[in-house]
Amino acid sequence: MSIERIKVDVGRHRQPYDILVGDGLIENAAEHLSKVLKRRKAFIVTDETVAGLHLERLNTAFAAGGIESHVTVMPAGEANKDFAHLQQMTDSLLDAGAERSDTLVALGGGVIGDMTGFAAAILRRGMDFVQVPTTLLAQVDSSVGGKTGIDTRQGKNLIGAFHQPRLVLADTGVLDTLPRRELLAGYAEVVKYGLLGDAVFFDWLTRRGAEVIEENGRARRQAIATCCRFKAEVVARDETETGERALLNLGHTFGHALEAEASFDAGLLHGEGVAIGMTMAFALSVELEMCLPDEAAWARRHLDAIGLPTHPAQRGLKDVTAAALMGHMAQDKKVKDGRIAFILTHGIGEAFLTRDVEPAAVEAFLEGFLRDVPDAA
Ligand code: NAD
Ligand code: GLY
Repeated sequence: MSIERIKVDVGRHRQPYDILVGDGLIENAAEHLSKVLKRRKAFIVTDETVAGLHLERLNTAFAAGGIESHVTVMPAGEANKDFAHLQQMTDSLLDAGAERSDTLVALGGGVIGDMTGFAAAILRRGMDFVQVPTTLLAQVDSSVGGKTGIDTRQGKNLIGAFHQPRLVLADTGVLDTLPRRELLAGYAEVVKYGLLGDAVFFDWLTRRGAEVIEENGRARRQAIATCCRFKAEVVARDETETGERALLNLGHTFGHALEAEASFDAGLLHGEGVAIGMTMAFALSVELEMCLPDEAAWARRHLDAIGLPTHPAQRGLKDVTAAALMGHMAQDKKVKDGRIAFILTHGIGEAFLTRDVEPAAVEAFLEGFLRDVPDAA
């Protein structure tokens, strides 16, 4: 199977790097990493679940390619993306003798990628790291663009750094072991790119989306590469999110608030929060007469059809109040002078950022949206 290669060039004295997308990349990891390693040693960081499924293949590939590896295994899941586990990770790496010129290899989903990237940013004042993303969400979003960090009790990703990887290896075959619910959650981030800035891609997804989820084939590779190409271009223009990059957060302001309401619990996966959040962003845009109802309905229909939640009640969040969501949104990283930033839209593929929406109008909208529980929930 062929490999898609996407270059990310953020300029500003940072080295450009490649994202490779294809089946079987882990088997050839030594060859790909050889181009970026400063010495033939790699410090792999993974979680317990991924270690049981894919670590041996990576270790075998490294050994065959003459790369010595050390492995740190962390507990799996968002609840472990905190200071205590970051310290556990950095202790393990320092105890194992990781030097500044060494390279960390994040083998896992967005949690492992974000935490390992942050560890690389702060360990010995900055080490290299490589992303080997193993969830669909990580392959299309979190492994690309250099946002790293951890959660705190005040909210998600509030402590972190921009630190770009040296290479991203997105092996599409690893997604075959991913539980369907996780695949779907990752698919929400795939749809996000279409909804925010690529109507043609969204239209393609309405026809080929199921194939992207079901089969490790051409449609999956093509979808992942399209998302990475889109993100690489945005990040090249706006690495540190002073403007355009914020659009990549379509659905995230509402989504993060819902995740906080769910206490970052597995009851609501990040991508599920994003799917509901995107539905809310489109519905609010309609309410503010910025978007045609048909466009919002088309977006929601696709999310529903593919099996993603579009209302909090579908994930058991039946008592969420508008006031509680407003409270969480006040902690959003994009709040400026006390004003919450919303990514709204003029239609499919036409997202924009605004701070001009009155909080009272958003709260009233949310009260109506939350009341309107779909029949099946
Ligand atoms: P995750 O890392 O928790 O992975 C989800 C679950 O799947 C975990 O239990 C993991 O062990 C398991 N898993 C991973 N790969 C597997 C595989 N191939 N087969 C079977 N199981 C596997 O979650 P995620 O959805 O990958 O990432 C969510 C995180 O990403 C959140 O913390 C979010 O904030 C972050 N994120 C970051 C960015 C960014 O730009 N840095 C962007 C989007 C999301
Ligand atoms: N996931 C949004 C970003 O990377 O900017």
